[in-house]
Amino acid sequence: MKIIARGAEAILLRKKESLLKKRVKKSYRHPLLDSSLRKSRTRREARILNKISNIVAVPKVLTSNEETIEMEFLNGKLLSSYLDSFNSKQRKKVSQDIGKTVAKLHAANIIHGDLTTSNMILKDKLYFIDFGLSFHSTKVEDKAVDIHLLKEALNSKHFKISDNLFKEFTKSYSKHYNEGKKVLSRLEVVEKRGRYKRKSML
Ligand SMILES: Nc1ncnc2c1ncn2[C@@H]1O[C@H](COP(=O)(O)OP(=O)(O)OP(=O)(O)O)[C@@H](O)[C@H]1O
Ligand SMILES: [Mg+2]
Repeated sequence: MKIIARGAEAILLRKKESLLKKRVKKSYRHPLLDSSLRKSRTRREARILNKISNIVAVPKVLTSNEETIEMEFLNGKLLSSYLDSFNSKQRKKVSQDIGKTVAKLHAANIIHGDLTTSNMILKDKLYFIDFGLSFHSTKVEDKAVDIHLLKEALNSKHFKISDNLFKEFTKSYSKHYNEGKKVLSRLEVVEKRGRYKRKSML
């Protein structure tokens, strides 16, 4: 077995065609809280992955227990590492795919909770991973915050191209989700609030 990544929460090991995501102990957390957080996030991630596998492309869950999920290993390109090197046509396609995928999730009332390009893998199609912070919600606000996080992630990681990426994303998102326009106008409110908060902290 080979360690392929160490995330903020988990250690990821490759075992032939599968990947083990094991949530490790965090010594800065109280042991009881730590154990309950690891269990609940693992359970939540496995449950959501199974639930949405027929809605969007996600790795197949093979087995799971309290702190480990064994899932299909996606031998593709992690978007955080490759997006900047794509040509404009490829970027456009990927942004549209992100828009369509988030649209489908939100139409199913699933909030991803950590929409960054290190949680997206391009293989035969675009896959989303890392559903440990995901939850069910019908609220426009939760969907707008989900997109706000994506926008911030694009701005910080892909700052040279983020405006174009986000423009294509929003077009596709509203095309594939009939409540999409409502969510995007709430996003403006969320952003204004953020600016106000930042100003008042100065
Ligand atoms: N099914 C998979 N197939 C291939 N690679 C994967 C898979 N799942 C995770 N990875 C790789 O491991 C990394 C970390 O996985 P994941 O995002 O699920 O965990 P995390 O602890 O939340 O990490 P982070 O703190 O980086 O978000 C991913 O960015 C990706 O490179
Ligand atoms: Mg991640």
